[in-house]
Amino acid sequence: MAALTRPMAARVRAAIPGEGFAIAALWHELWDAHQDWGGYAGSSDEAVYAQLAVRLDDDARVRGGRPLLGSHVHLVAERGGVPCGQVEGWLERHGLGAAAPLTCEVRSLIVGARARGSGLGRALLDTLAQAARSSAPGVRCVLAAEVLEPNPAHAFYARTGFAPVAWSVRLDPNAGAQARTGSYVARAALAADAAAVARLETVLSARRRERGDVRFDPPRALDTTLLAVIGAHLAAEAREQGDSGTLVVVDKTGAVRGAASVIVQTLEPPFVPVRRALVGRFALDPACPTAALVGPLVRAGCRFAVARGAARVELTDLSAPASALYDAALSLGATPWSRVVIREVPVPCPP
Ligand SMILES: CC(C)(COP(=O)(O)OP(=O)(O)OC[C@H]1O[C@@H](n2cnc3c(N)ncnc32)[C@H](O)[C@@H]1OP(=O)(O)O)[C@@H](O)C(=O)NCCC(=O)NCCS
Repeated sequence: MAALTRPMAARVRAAIPGEGFAIAALWHELWDAHQDWGGYAGSSDEAVYAQLAVRLDDDARVRGGRPLLGSHVHLVAERGGVPCGQVEGWLERHGLGAAAPLTCEVRSLIVGARARGSGLGRALLDTLAQAARSSAPGVRCVLAAEVLEPNPAHAFYARTGFAPVAWSVRLDPNAGAQARTGSYVARAALAADAAAVARLETVLSARRRERGDVRFDPPRALDTTLLAVIGAHLAAEAREQGDSGTLVVVDKTGAVRGAASVIVQTLEPPFVPVRRALVGRFALDPACPTAALVGPLVRAGCRFAVARGAARVELTDLSAPASALYDAALSLGATPWSRVVIREVPVPCPP
């Protein structure tokens, strides 16, 4: 009788053609849960998930049993041959220097409600870490996940070795665009601001390192090459007037005292396709009051967002709750939204 009651073995592997519908159903479950935590709405249109199922099957055919395709990892957890969990990983480098690690962004992690609590979530992340590590042997590598504040998965990430390193809050751009500001004024950055922006970037880099966020470059020495790159980037943004930009805040003398970036995106299916804006990379002169610089930057970011039809603005890459930066963001009417947790992927011991 023992054989009849033994739990079916679980396995983590690449998806195989024919599993698209089962995996799409997991995405549906995840997006419904996401919405319950106040996240962006997932589609309730079954046709969207049917299309996703077809795309997943096509994708599995192309992968031919390999989890890694280009910079994308896709893994399925199965029990008795039936998919009951899945995770994606996107591999990217957030920095330009050799010290910036490979970051594997953990996305759409889910273990179906009936399969939870038996180690599959941990197994999915461990296998994802192995896939990321094997994609770039010898390179420092971290896993990073963004977790909404109301999601009970915070305890899971803590148990599996992740630590929070960056926080974000969210606000209505129409309210943010009316924020009161003092004597500092924000405007779009120009190529001529390159040196000031580069100097402030070193402050941002130091702040990220202080809170343990190793995904980005450490503070870099300012040289003519770096200034030329930043100047060309700012000139292109000013010329193109697209959906991304750099903002600076200046004091009464016109000196640049802070900078931030803004980008507006349309969410892709299976999300309902709303526009959202991200205002982040707050780089602030420590000699000035934080709130006095953040207010004008957020106001300018919200105006940028409103002009491009964004329904929500997320203020990202903030320091921990109760820090001056986080509190300045809350004082503008924002509410807690998410945090980024990271885990270092250990280098395997030589045999
Ligand atoms: C988060 C999730 C993937 C965890 O999957 P799981 O298979 O249940 O997790 P595991 O069984 O591998 O748990 C690993 C550890 O985390 C702990 N843990 C898992 N969920 C937990 C929870 N909600 N609260 C407290 N601890 C939790 C487990 O007790 C276990 O601890 P242990 O190492 O001491 O035994 C799953 O709950 C889920 O799919 N949730 C909904 C979707 C979601 O939130 N995804 C993440 C989006 S960022």
